[in-house]
Amino acid sequence: MIQFPNDFVWGSATSSYQIEGAAAEGGRAWSIWDAHAHIPGRTHNNENGNVACDHYHRYKEDVKLMADLGLKAYRFSISWSRIQPDGQGEINQEGIDFYSNLIDELLKHNITPWITLYHWDLPLALQTEKDGWLNPDIADFFATYAEICFKHFGDRVKNWITLNEPWVVAILGYGEGVFAPGRKSKDEPYLAAHQLLRSHGKAVKVYREKYQEKQGGKIGITNNCDWREPLTNKPEDIEAAERSLLFFLGWFADPIYFGDYPKVMRDRVGDRLPKFSAEDVENIKGSSDFFGLNHYTASYAADVDPNANDDDVTVYGNGGIFEDQYVDLTSDPKWKMTTMNWAIVPWGCRKLLEWISDRYGNPPTYITENGCSLDDKLENGEVKDTIRKEFVEGYLAACKKAIDNGVNLQGYFVWSFMDNFEWALGYSKRFGIHYVDYETLERTPKNSALWFKEAIKNNGFEFSLNERDI
Ligand code: GAL
Repeated sequence: MIQFPNDFVWGSATSSYQIEGAAAEGGRAWSIWDAHAHIPGRTHNNENGNVACDHYHRYKEDVKLMADLGLKAYRFSISWSRIQPDGQGEINQEGIDFYSNLIDELLKHNITPWITLYHWDLPLALQTEKDGWLNPDIADFFATYAEICFKHFGDRVKNWITLNEPWVVAILGYGEGVFAPGRKSKDEPYLAAHQLLRSHGKAVKVYREKYQEKQGGKIGITNNCDWREPLTNKPEDIEAAERSLLFFLGWFADPIYFGDYPKVMRDRVGDRLPKFSAEDVENIKGSSDFFGLNHYTASYAADVDPNANDDDVTVYGNGGIFEDQYVDLTSDPKWKMTTMNWAIVPWGCRKLLEWISDRYGNPPTYITENGCSLDDKLENGEVKDTIRKEFVEGYLAACKKAIDNGVNLQGYFVWSFMDNFEWALGYSKRFGIHYVDYETLERTPKNSALWFKEAIKNNGFEFSLNERDI
């Protein structure tokens, strides 16, 4: 039996654009993701979030399902353009009411709300008129929006996450252009990341100076990172794996814990990496009350000679800007894959948690996302998603091992509460522990949800997998 600490937070997560729908209702204006998804060819089958899971209309039913599951915490995001349609100025009362009612509904069922202020759906007007995350003024726009949320919801909401995965915004949004706003550049990711960090810092400053004491909540940021295992024990591969982690997670976490980008990034990116002002450092350093981590997979990392032939390199998975790092990423053919082609490697999660704990002084840590996409089939009212159940069991067991090794991990949120709009991949990938029939919008708990319910109830589970994998 694997038993978790008594106050361990058992949660599940979603995000606004992925589930809400009602894109043109309740006074909401378009975000960059509405625009991106309406450009032909940008998403699988040109799908978009116009309806998504229709959570906007069905939130009571969804909270009821959460209560049935015994969920302790629910992480969701606020659509900025529901609160401020133009991203600045006027507040949309209907948007405030929607989230306020959702919060009340959660609390009525003893489910603790965890709010993400930004999960990629920037108000479109801020992109078209203000150049989005490249404009230094965005930090003030974001802090103003954040303050509206603290003011209206902070009496009941005690857990705040400023940004979800700024790495994705920077690399997929501004580097590879596969996510909104669809820009392709080798320099803009560093510029966007810089403004994302400044925005986070300013929002935290507002919370700390005006709300935290009175409201008694916590605020932090959620970063994503895969584990990097050195391909061999040659020093250059060990260093390559470390370098890759620093370009991925250190990029965002080092400024928050140490006040600057990792040295290896400053050295390699040079003048293309912006510099923080003294005021930025003051706002950013120490600006997270907890370490939020989204984690999905692992890869092997090996050093690459910058003069090597391009054909010698296989970049598997999330690499960032290759020429700045020269790290070759590969997977082990024995690893099981999800339908995202992400390898299932629970021990990678343990090692990453331990790496974070060592590097950043063992901060209180939450896995704010971890999950598995599969080709689920609903048959006779049942979804037999054994691989997802084993995925969650394996990763949770790895988490417990990390806790036993001294990591201050305080909670785990499974991604996702229900199948939803998986960004550029539309509705083709299912991550939910609840199945959504996109014709009828009916939700059905998958077998993984039934397993998770028992685990929550028992604050642990009987471990059924191979010890070697965790
Ligand atoms: C994360 C993201 C989620 C979800 C998940 C699965 O990067 O925060 O919105 O899409 O990945 O791909």
